[in-house]
Amino acid sequence: MAKRIFVTATNTDIGKTYTSVKLLKEFAAQGLRVAAIKPVETGVIDGVYLDGAMLLHTIKELNPECADLSIEDVVPISYELPAAPYIASKGEPFDFAKVDVAIAKLEEICDVLIIEGAGGLYVPVDGTFMIVDLISYFQANTLLVTHCSLGCINDTLLSLQTLKNKGLAHVFAFNCRAEDSSFSTISEPFFLNNKYDVFKVSKDIDTICELLYNL
Ligand code: GTP
Ligand code: MG
Repeated sequence: MAKRIFVTATNTDIGKTYTSVKLLKEFAAQGLRVAAIKPVETGVIDGVYLDGAMLLHTIKELNPECADLSIEDVVPISYELPAAPYIASKGEPFDFAKVDVAIAKLEEICDVLIIEGAGGLYVPVDGTFMIVDLISYFQANTLLVTHCSLGCINDTLLSLQTLKNKGLAHVFAFNCRAEDSSFSTISEPFFLNNKYDVFKVSKDIDTICELLYNL
């Protein structure tokens, strides 16, 4: 089994794919064979997989053994409606077996497998399971990507509490945008005062990878 790293976030559009690409590049730079999977992607219209295509392109660039992979290898389950999988699939049960087959194929050619979730931890994947349940099922270490805008303290703590309650090994990192220049005055002091490690995707990706690999 490869080292599995599940990339989740405090919400959709926070930077899971963006960060996943950075993780893949960093692990590859360390000499590890990388691959990625997005078990379920929604909003796939006319065969356009926004996240899947980005992940597939990246792993092909970084790992020659990924050359023959197709988009279905990286995104085994997809739906058109841009919504939570439970909604987009009209309640179809999540096909764990299909994802297991896809993961097994990827793990033959990688040392580190990045698994990108959908939205955040409490996105329903079907009538029974939430994204957070998939992390336990896949036995992956978790990277929680969070944002740096006002509200990030609340959003980050809620997700961290969920990971803790579920007993999931995790690291969290801030994906700050250009417009988040006030982070250091309006939010960061809380994390520093409460002895959290403040890692940023922009400058600490090597440390983040090392921690995730060794959790
Ligand atoms: P979903 O998978 O749809 O839930 O979103 P996500 O969490 O994967 O977010 P994604 O990585 O797709 O980021 C959303 C958008 O913001 C994309 O267009 C990214 O290219 C862009 N983006 C994310 N992080 C950064 C960043 O740090 N800087 C800049 N300039 N753009 C970013
Ligand atoms: Mg994404």
